[in-house]
Amino acid sequence: MAKEKNKNKWRKSTNLVHEAEPRTAYGETGEALFLTSGYVYDSAEQAQARFLGEDDGYQYSRFGNPTVRSFEKRMIAFESSDFNAETGFEIDARATATGMAAVTAAMLCYLKAGDHVVAAKALFGSCRYIVETLLPRYGIKTTLIDGTDLTAWERAALPETKIFFLESPTNPMLDILDIEAISEIAHRHDSLMVVDNVFATPVLQNPFTLGADIVIYSATKHIDGQGRCLGGIVLGRKDWIDDYLANFIRQTGPSISPFNAWVMLKSLETMELRVHAHCDRAEKLTEALSVHPKVSRLVYPGNPSHPHFELAKKQMQRGGSLFSFEVSGGQKAAFKLANNLQLVKISNNLGDAKSLITHPSTTTHQKLEEQERLKIGITPGTLRVSVGLEDPQDLIDDFVQALESLGS
Ligand SMILES: Cc1ncc(COP(=O)(O)O)c(C=O)c1O
Repeated sequence: MAKEKNKNKWRKSTNLVHEAEPRTAYGETGEALFLTSGYVYDSAEQAQARFLGEDDGYQYSRFGNPTVRSFEKRMIAFESSDFNAETGFEIDARATATGMAAVTAAMLCYLKAGDHVVAAKALFGSCRYIVETLLPRYGIKTTLIDGTDLTAWERAALPETKIFFLESPTNPMLDILDIEAISEIAHRHDSLMVVDNVFATPVLQNPFTLGADIVIYSATKHIDGQGRCLGGIVLGRKDWIDDYLANFIRQTGPSISPFNAWVMLKSLETMELRVHAHCDRAEKLTEALSVHPKVSRLVYPGNPSHPHFELAKKQMQRGGSLFSFEVSGGQKAAFKLANNLQLVKISNNLGDAKSLITHPSTTTHQKLEEQERLKIGITPGTLRVSVGLEDPQDLIDDFVQALESLGS
């Protein structure tokens, strides 16, 4: 397109609004939604050539669709803009039906029986299930460690280790793991560094610039940002996507619906603005709650009282939209507080425009033994908040009235 001849020079925010597959013959401004499962060939010869890989073009939406590709291309352009491909590598991506499909595909496309994975213990519940329960069923050994202890990563690495896996900030206690230092250990052990970057968001943290080889998102969260669609995406070195992930997705089918990919594509246009607006509100709300007498502990990566504040400042632009806090009085008090909130809704989702609260020990982390929960800091009085886009004063007022309702 003549009008797009400066495309390679576009900056990050521009890529987020414009990068996509070429427009159709109608020249639409809003990207088209190709809600189609298959594609028609001009001839039987063309069909044969496509299946032989000798002719570019789509064949079947399980393994390729223009709307899905537009979503992938926009994410690739955004993540690549901070990353020097001359010293690093070319980034490619594949979108998936959910964040969990992205995690599972990234692991299973690459690992085989006899391989080994080292992962941080503090993982989202389903990610922990994949590492702790699913992979070992297929002969893949796994070791879960305290991810904040760099020596533990080093000690856990074996000659068969193929993947180091972590999320940072962690769910729900928001520990910050040193992605750069852990990537360096992973690479020394010929392992891939895989980062689940959901809590940080693509806006606030770019793991590729910190040494990660593969970055995973649940697009369900801040990418959609309005609590509508499930989706996921795996970004990584192009050669790894070509050699492992692309064919795995083609053959096993954890593919995203073109409709959901279209929602994600359009949501990316406002993602930067939304994420910063989430952070503005989270900063104000945590500042107010951290001095409230009924709050015994509050963890927010953007607050100087966070135990890993300096590291958070180094690898994240801002503290994000999530915080956790503890009320004295255990589960009973935590339930009472959640039930008494008027504006903030009880829900285990996150990254929504609506503020949401969840009680991790009875929901997202219910399957862990009590001792395991306590080891990662989840007490019965702990609540996790995903701060939305409401007026910050309304959020403060809602929490203050619910805290007051706990009595003395
Ligand atoms: C850190 C993290 N990773 C992965 C997922 C899974 O995403 P999805 O629900 O889209 O499968 C979630 C969902 O809450 C999450 O919080």
